[in-house]
Order: sequence, then C-alpha cells, then structure tokens
Amino acid sequence: MKTMIAYASKSGTAKRCAERLAARIPGSALVDLHREKPDPSGYDQVIVGGSVRIGALHRDAKQYLDGAKPVLLKKRLAIFLCAGNEEGVEKVLENNVDPELRAHAERMVSFGGELNPEHLGGFERMMMKMVTKVANSEKDKLPKLFPERVDALAELFK
Ligand SMILES: Cc1cc2nc3c(=O)[nH]c(=O)nc-3n(C[C@H](O)[C@H](O)[C@H](O)COP(=O)(O)O)c2cc1C
Repeated sequence: MKTMIAYASKSGTAKRCAERLAARIPGSALVDLHREKPDPSGYDQVIVGGSVRIGALHRDAKQYLDGAKPVLLKKRLAIFLCAGNEEGVEKVLENNVDPELRAHAERMVSFGGELNPEHLGGFERMMMKMVTKVANSEKDKLPKLFPERVDALAELFK
C-alpha cells in the first residue's frame, strides 16, 4: 500500500504529528502542503491534516482537500486536525471539510494541540494569551496533545 501523509502546519504541531505518523507507516511519503500539493493519484491511501486557527482549518490543507477531492474520494482517506479545543472539533470539520469527503473518510481525528509562542506572530501571540488566560481558570481546557491518537491512526494505516 502506497501512503501519502500531507500536512499543513503553522507553528509546528501538525508537522510533528505528521512526522510521527510517517515514522510509524513504513515507506510513506511525507508532504508539506505549504511547499507542494502533489497529485494523490499514485497513492493507495492518503492522510491529510492541518492545524486550526480561529475555527478555520489551515488554508493549504483546505485547498488541497477541495482541489484533490475527486481523486481523494477514490482513495482510502483519513483526515486529522491539530486543534486546541476538543469541544470544537466536530464544528471545525463540518465547517471546513466537504461533506462527501467527511462521509468518505475512514477516520477523522483531532490529535489535540499545543501552544508554541516562539513560532507565532504578534497578533497570534496576543490571541494565544487570551485563550490561555481563559483556559487557565479551567485547567482541563488548556490545549493538550494526544500522541496515542497519532499512533492509533498509524496502526490503522500501516
Ligand atoms: C491564534 C490561535 C488561534 C487558535 N484558534 C483555535 C481554534 O479556533 N480552535 C482550536 O481548536 N484551536 C485553536 N488554536 C490552537 C491550535 O490549533 C494549536 O495551537 C495547534 O497545536 C497549532 O498547530 P500548528 O503548530 O501545526 O500550527 C489556536 C491557536 C492560536 C495560536
């Protein structure tokens, strides 16, 4: 089975998750969608993922899903998000991923999120501080990564 893992990341979480997937799926191709958007025709299974900012899936991941949709509908497909808010995941998928792709995908999962201030611009850092301030009052709401979910998806697709 030829596998492509295509990711779009702003501050590195989705990239690290994609790398973790690739390390566990032998022979898989790892693609940064910000650099290239390859034709998925040559692959049997495709995993596409990206991070979420203010309710929106990373533009490169969204564009890729929309543009490659006819081909992706013929492939074994999984979609992942890196999102800090567990409760918003269903809504993000609904608002950002085409319904046919959602119905077709074998697995849609959020790997959780983390806040990497060193990779953020001024406005984003300010947003992050606001999110953290609210979340700090409810510790369980702070973004958290779930590497076990990455491993579970890798187990399914390897
Ligand atoms: C400015 C900003 C806005 C964010 N907005 C959301 C959001 O709307 N929903 C959510 O679940 N997570 C949100 N997050 C959390 C990110 O999804 C999380 O930090 C993720 O790990 C980022 O992945 P990346 O490093 O691959 O870009 C936001 C983070 C930042 C910094």
